Amino acid sequence: MSNTIVIGAQWGDEGKGKIVDLLTESTDVVVRAQGGNNAGHTVISEGNEYILHLIPSGILWPGKTCVIGNGVVMDPVALLKEIDGLAEKGITVTPEQLKISDRAHLVMPFHREMDAYKEANRGNKIGTTKRGIGPTYGDKVDRTGFRLHDLVGNPVTFSERYSRKVSECNALFTAAGLEAIDAEATGKELLEAADRLAPFVDNTVATLHGLVKEGKSLLFEGAQGTYLDVDQGTYPFVTSSNTTSGGACTGSGVGPTVIDRVVGVAKAYTTRVGEGPFPTQHDELAAKFHAMGREFGATTGRKRRCGWLDLVLLRYSAMVNGFTDFAITILDGLDDLEEIPVCVAYELDGVQSPLPPACAKDFARVKPVYETLPGWNCDTTAIRKYEDLPETAKAYLDKIAEETGVPVSMVGNGPDREQTIVK
Ligand code: GDP
Ligand code: IMO
Ligand code: MG
Repeated sequence: MSNTIVIGAQWGDEGKGKIVDLLTESTDVVVRAQGGNNAGHTVISEGNEYILHLIPSGILWPGKTCVIGNGVVMDPVALLKEIDGLAEKGITVTPEQLKISDRAHLVMPFHREMDAYKEANRGNKIGTTKRGIGPTYGDKVDRTGFRLHDLVGNPVTFSERYSRKVSECNALFTAAGLEAIDAEATGKELLEAADRLAPFVDNTVATLHGLVKEGKSLLFEGAQGTYLDVDQGTYPFVTSSNTTSGGACTGSGVGPTVIDRVVGVAKAYTTRVGEGPFPTQHDELAAKFHAMGREFGATTGRKRRCGWLDLVLLRYSAMVNGFTDFAITILDGLDDLEEIPVCVAYELDGVQSPLPPACAKDFARVKPVYETLPGWNCDTTAIRKYEDLPETAKAYLDKIAEETGVPVSMVGNGPDREQTIVK
């Protein structure tokens, strides 16, 4: 039995879905503890592609319990759409398999509109997914949010509070020339969603503790990545939750003493979607991936910005998450290169630093200090054993371990389930 947290070590989209899918085979329970349907986790299994937004990727494995914890912000209508989409692909999501925390905060239609409104009126745009994530977490911290237990089983109280809140928001929206939200129609839709979701609602804290007591193993599926963390990321160009490993505990009600392993997932290069600093950004690398049909956002379809591997980011990520090991994904993305630059330090106003700065303005000004490593310049996608990787590819992976102090335990060399080499 072992309890594992999987965390994105960069700006999200590191391939967490695929690594979680691989680890699910030897686990009993898969838990989402933060974020919402801003996430898009891709799993490719037997030629079928699944993109999970709110539901833990473990749902693709029959018999594995999946939990949406108290730290997740959940859009009830989006969740039902996801459940229906999976049903169309032959995956039935049952209340026996999926448990949703009664304490999870709800993303409401006015949160989505507020997200778009705020983004439109912001000087420095964040480039949010417009899923209402920031305003929902804002209300949570402001202690005015709606939790799942407020909606399910309490239709009268919910409707009263909901109408009041919509009126308040509509005053702002209409003054800004935006369309008002129809409180009645959206309220009705939410109550209909509540009826369908009622069987899934659970005291997930009690359930998880019961499972731990029985000796079951838990796998926490991180959403977003370390540099989108509201405390540790490139603030304010971040999401509104703790995406780092501590968030798995606060967002599930499971204490840190039960955690045995924290896997950091990082691409062999770096990507970012949305605005904010990105020191190693390299537009030619991005153009190459986009021409191959790669590196488009799994949730919004936006082109991801791409750049070289940044070991300053991974070094700090390893610290704040307490990584026990790294899964390095999309090594095959670098297959055709003769030489590969990797960033080992940042230079700011003539001073070099091994760690990232606090301020986004400084982050945007740092100059990456590169070391150039030899490429392997061959197709690695058919390799299944670590020792069969080219020596230069192994040296590239060793460099990551050396600079971060964290060993590499897994290597992704293609999008399919079987294209992950376990060292
Ligand atoms: P997540 O949000 O961290 O789960 O990652 P996404 O699903 O948003 O983006 C990762 C993308 O990379 C998806 O299209 C995956 O299918 C793909 N992918 C994951 N691992 C590998 C890999 O090792 N090689 C290649 N070529 N693609 C990969
Ligand atoms: P997964 O789990 C990549 C980014 C958005 C934006 C910022 C804030 O698939 O790795 P938000 O809508 O959360 O308020 O947007 O965070 N972002 C992600 N980028 N992967 C994600 O999730 C992301 N979720 C949010 O692009 O820059
Ligand atoms: Mg993603």
